[in-house]
Amino acid sequence: MPSKILSAALVGLESKIVEVEVDISSGLPNFIIVGLPDIAVQEARVRVRSAIKNSGRPFPYTRVAVNLAPCDLKKEGPSYDLPIALGIFLAHESIESEIPLDSSIFVGELSLDGHLRRINGVLSIVMMAKQNGIKNIFLPAENAPEASIISDINIFPLKTFNQLVKFLNNEESIIPLKPNPTHFEIEEDQDETFSLVKGQEYAKRALEIVAAGGHNLFMVGPPGTGKTFLARSIISILPSLGTSEMLEVTRIYSVAGMTTAKKPLIQNRPFRNPHHSSSAAALIGGGRFPKPGEISLSHRGVLFLDELPEFPRAVLESLRQPLEDGVVTVARVSSSIQFPARFILITAANPCPCGFLSDPKQTCCCTPNQVLKYQKRISGPLLDRMDLQVEVPRLDFNKLTQENASQEEIAKIREKIKKARQIQRARFSKKEILENSEMGHKEISKFCAIDFEGKMILKKAVEQIPLSARAYYRVLKVARTIADLDQEERIKINHLAEAIQYRIKQMGGLGS
Ligand SMILES: Nc1ncnc2c1ncn2[C@@H]1O[C@H](COP(=O)(O)OP(=O)(O)OP(=O)(O)O)[C@@H](O)[C@H]1O
Ligand SMILES: [Mg+2]
Repeated sequence: MPSKILSAALVGLESKIVEVEVDISSGLPNFIIVGLPDIAVQEARVRVRSAIKNSGRPFPYTRVAVNLAPCDLKKEGPSYDLPIALGIFLAHESIESEIPLDSSIFVGELSLDGHLRRINGVLSIVMMAKQNGIKNIFLPAENAPEASIISDINIFPLKTFNQLVKFLNNEESIIPLKPNPTHFEIEEDQDETFSLVKGQEYAKRALEIVAAGGHNLFMVGPPGTGKTFLARSIISILPSLGTSEMLEVTRIYSVAGMTTAKKPLIQNRPFRNPHHSSSAAALIGGGRFPKPGEISLSHRGVLFLDELPEFPRAVLESLRQPLEDGVVTVARVSSSIQFPARFILITAANPCPCGFLSDPKQTCCCTPNQVLKYQKRISGPLLDRMDLQVEVPRLDFNKLTQENASQEEIAKIREKIKKARQIQRARFSKKEILENSEMGHKEISKFCAIDFEGKMILKKAVEQIPLSARAYYRVLKVARTIADLDQEERIKINHLAEAIQYRIKQMGGLGS
């Protein structure tokens, strides 16, 4: 009689139930796995055989057939080791478990001695299990803290395969892990970098708007003026993640294998700073076993691309679609997978190879041709997606020696940003939108109404800067955020004028 138990597959961020069927029949010793298994699943044969033997359990020296259903779903990774081993055990030994197996899911990688190793994507698996009415989930002990983020499902942490067999035979007990209510309690560990930035009021104001509305920012200036420092300082003023945002972000990190037993929940907004030598796949995601890239690891946080012109142009161009849609689609031969990618993009660049093109104190030594070649590395379409474009000039001595901003000043900015975000949450409460930057055409026409005077200012901007249609809508969204920071219901002229000012091309038209 074949055995049948439940396990789970990961498809991008989603999880699906997989039935693991095992049949043992007479014949020459053979161990086959069917049901679209990848190499890691095929290799389970070696791990499972050794793990069962080294756990002191008999491995059948006959014909063992394992079927992973549904057969049209590709099975990847080592998480099927545990259900396959248990299926083999149940196919030739009967047990009288108190736990109903048809409402339990088993996942985990086995080592050759029968110990369990952590797997990726546990949060997605547990969420799916709960949605499908599954009552119990058996998984590696190292994954249990992450699984216990979800309540109302029994999490059984396992150290070894033998422990599971003994438990099902009622020889040993395993206490299910209780959901940990302290998971969502945020550790208050405020970053202070923002208060250390001297001068650069214009760039700091831009950062405030970016943090409030989730817009993109481009900074350009000579070396050593604080562009990188400013970008990193945004962490000090960004509000912490909401509970559902924490789950959204943690799911991505879980699938990428970046959660740990000590830190199972991602509580802080991500800040990712990939080097300019990163490949398009590292940035966008994908690969043979599709993994989220840097843009998805920055979801609900910040992606900082420093030294923007040093990134290969093809890599930068691959950002264009996710920047518009907030998701990235990774195409595969048989299907396509989507990862969320709703992030604040902050970029920084020098105006020319030597860096001093715009510096009043130091002469630029680049030829016009070198400057042009350098500036052309950033495409117009990418720069068009930068909502705020600011110059970060050299600081004079007075600014450099001024006092750091006080804690009260920073607390005030934080509070303003928090309030602006609350206004946005209330505004979009019936929609799947959190920030002004996510507004589509419908929301823009509903929430960004402007009066006649405002229209006249925008007309001038469209004709004289000139603004593209995309830039026009982005200006409206930034103006909405500036109005929210002022807690104003209507967008006023000063809000529009400030938003337009950030679109005036810097440094002799970099990227045009
Ligand atoms: N406005 C500032 N206030 C305080 N410190 C600053 C400021 N600007 C620069 N610094 C100091 O100088 C260091 C270098 O600055 P940063 O790396 O941000 O310059 P940059 O503009 O990114 O230069 P580059 O174009 O060479 O990358 C910072 O780590 C910081 O210590
Ligand atoms: Mg820098």
